[in-house]
Amino acid sequence: MKIIRAKDYKDMSRKAANIISAQIIMKPNCVLGLATGSTPIGTYDQLVEWYNKGDLDFSEVTTVNLDEYKGLTRENDQSYYYFMNDKLFSRVNINKDRTFLPDGMEPDSDKACRDYNEIIASVGGVDLQLLGLGHNGHIGFNEPGMAFEAETHCVNLTESTMKANQRFFASMDEVPKQAYTMGIKTIMQAKKILIVISGEDKAQIVKEAFFGPITPKVQASVLQLHNDVIVVADEAALSLVK
Ligand code: F6R
Repeated sequence: MKIIRAKDYKDMSRKAANIISAQIIMKPNCVLGLATGSTPIGTYDQLVEWYNKGDLDFSEVTTVNLDEYKGLTRENDQSYYYFMNDKLFSRVNINKDRTFLPDGMEPDSDKACRDYNEIIASVGGVDLQLLGLGHNGHIGFNEPGMAFEAETHCVNLTESTMKANQRFFASMDEVPKQAYTMGIKTIMQAKKILIVISGEDKAQIVKEAFFGPITPKVQASVLQLHNDVIVVADEAALSLVK
């Protein structure tokens, strides 16, 4: 595991975007695994800036995202599909037919998960997987538990996650109760993993995930076993590790 110390959020975003750019330049038809959440937004902005300068070409890139809410349409501005289009896909020359997320509108969970596993296999696996880190150590929607789930699966969102999401919806009834997420095995099969982390509120979980025991109670701790992980974190997020 390589840890790159960034000064602040902007520096973290630039360093992470540099690694993604290198991947695209070295292998223009690469498969990128992508994440939503607030942490990678600056990274996507930086990639868009370099694209606008003519330094990056996404025309042959394929993407597979980590997760999607079950039951949200693509037009819903809380869906991860919407997020990815808004933050990246609509701003660069990527072929939208080569951008994949789990199908949140597929009501049959088994089918949604099976289909997504097949998509990931059909694109030949992930070259570079971008991750964020949840406060409880989750990656994707792989929440603390008794085991590391292998492939795409449907998760029941915890009461606290639903409550936190409530503010984005007109009523509690509209808040998604489930999500589809890539499993840990799929994440671990990526050739390279890049995890971006910012802020003092993540310092404790950074310490536990990367310097503590490997346990499904802290799902990100499994990354210690991958042979090509780059952690790009700012000083605040690294404040509890030497
Ligand atoms: C996003 C995802 C989540 C986030 C994590 C951190 O697709 O799967 O695991 O990466 O919750 O979120 P932020 O970056 O908002 O702190």
